[in-house]
Amino acid sequence: MRIITGLQPSGKLHVGNYFGAMEPAVRMQESGESFYFLADYHAMSTVHDANALRENCSNLATDFLAVGLDPEKCVFFRQSAVPEVNELAWILSTVCPMGLLERCHSYKDKIAKGFSPSNALFTYPVLMAADILMYDSDLVPVGKDQKQHLEVTRDLAGKMNEQFGEGTCKLPDALIAESTAIVPGLDGQKMSKSYNNTLPIFGEEKAVRKLIMRIPTDSTPVEDPKPTEGSVILQLYKLFASAQGYEDMVRGFQNGGCGYGDFKKRLFDAYWEYFRPARERRAELEANQDYVRRTLEEGARKARETASVVLDRVRRAVGLA
Ligand code: TYM
Repeated sequence: MRIITGLQPSGKLHVGNYFGAMEPAVRMQESGESFYFLADYHAMSTVHDANALRENCSNLATDFLAVGLDPEKCVFFRQSAVPEVNELAWILSTVCPMGLLERCHSYKDKIAKGFSPSNALFTYPVLMAADILMYDSDLVPVGKDQKQHLEVTRDLAGKMNEQFGEGTCKLPDALIAESTAIVPGLDGQKMSKSYNNTLPIFGEEKAVRKLIMRIPTDSTPVEDPKPTEGSVILQLYKLFASAQGYEDMVRGFQNGGCGYGDFKKRLFDAYWEYFRPARERRAELEANQDYVRRTLEEGARKARETASVVLDRVRRAVGLA
């Protein structure tokens, strides 16, 4: 079984990225052949500063290794180190109806947020489909915001097979865990860089404490029971705490006698402990950037091997070889 996922090096990683994609990726790295990559071509659809892109890439690589990617167990690489993916994207674009892309929410959202409507933003899902189909992937662990892109990928694979013969492309499945499909941000909307509501994975202690203490709450008096429904504090706490710890916190809400400030402190402590091992590992990796670079190079070599086999098959099927 092949597993693939990618993350854009377009800013600091947050807890939504972690639970939506990185945690399942790490957990599954031994369940089959895993391909994990930095989607740097995709990041270029919004990042147009060479130094920022380079820095984001090395930060993301360091972060992903720190949370537990093991290059012995998975293939970890930069998307742009396998330029073959562009050729596959082009081939897919020849069977991609405009309407399919016009319906994509992510494009409309980006435009609504003020990004200029570039060709790259519009055809983003075609390149993403190429990322996935390039490695004959079976499973793609992602957050719910990528569901539509996975549907586009399946559509395109189906069209390729109809047009050029069964087996030209392999249809993948999205893997979206219900409990972490949409991790809420500090304001209760989906956690997202563009909403400015993120909890970073590797934030500085004081800054994260401040972010958590600022989570908006209602004005229930300290001694009264607090509503549990829709509570961001509880939803985030659940991600970091044990089942028992979470139940205790829910009871604390229901019993009253405790203010939101105390619950927020507990949330911060759980967050801080949860990422402690990753933070320590990150500090080691930070001092060993050569290792990070070598890991990506070795990953790219392996990824290219697989990619060239698939691309060769597709080229033959479409008549390019
Ligand atoms: P990106 O970089 O925006 O996000 C990386 C991953 O984080 C997930 N995610 C979330 N999950 C749950 N709750 C949230 N609040 C949340 N915010 C983000 C995203 O769903 C994603 O899984 N298009 C992709 C990158 C990509 C890719 C691919 C992924 C390019 N090619 C091929 C899989 C396969 C993206 O923008 O991710």
